[in-house]
Amino acid sequence: MNVDKVYLVGFMGAGKSSVARALSRRLDWRPLDIDGLIEAREHRVVSDIFAGKGEAYFRALERSVLLDQLPVRHVVVATGGGTFVDPANREVINRDGLSVWIDVPLKTLIDRVPPDGRRPLAQDRPAFERLYHARAEAYRHARLRVQGGRRSVHDIVEEIVAYMKEESH
Ligand code: S3P
Repeated sequence: MNVDKVYLVGFMGAGKSSVARALSRRLDWRPLDIDGLIEAREHRVVSDIFAGKGEAYFRALERSVLLDQLPVRHVVVATGGGTFVDPANREVINRDGLSVWIDVPLKTLIDRVPPDGRRPLAQDRPAFERLYHARAEAYRHARLRVQGGRRSVHDIVEEIVAYMKEESH
């Protein structure tokens, strides 16, 4: 099957947006960012949406933005850390394109993601760690798992491209 859309999934700080930018450049596609689309639609940043309307409202928007983008092809979608955790979203994504889990060790994520309020679910450190462990189960449903962490964005991109070439035979 020829892949014409890639979804990057994984925890906060895994590098989904950076890899989406680099991979889309490499493929001559476009990057799409679920959080960015939500913010553009609401004219507010994610933390303000969480604070003002709550997480359930945010999750509904996340689903709606994901569905809106279904007709769009030749894009690399950077999902939010929670997008692929929802079973219905997971099914939509796995039917629509190639899901790739950027798997990064917890220690690295703790260093990368500051509890500065920009990510509401990274504020409480013990909760952040519990969430990490709980979510691994969901991310495992991605079709491809690549190791992040110490590797460069370039290396990750090349691994994904190699997999896509293999798949297209
Ligand atoms: C979330 C991750 C964030 C953003 C929101 C919720 C999550 O995206 O969607 O703060 O539930 O893990 P990033 O993974 O891009 O930080």
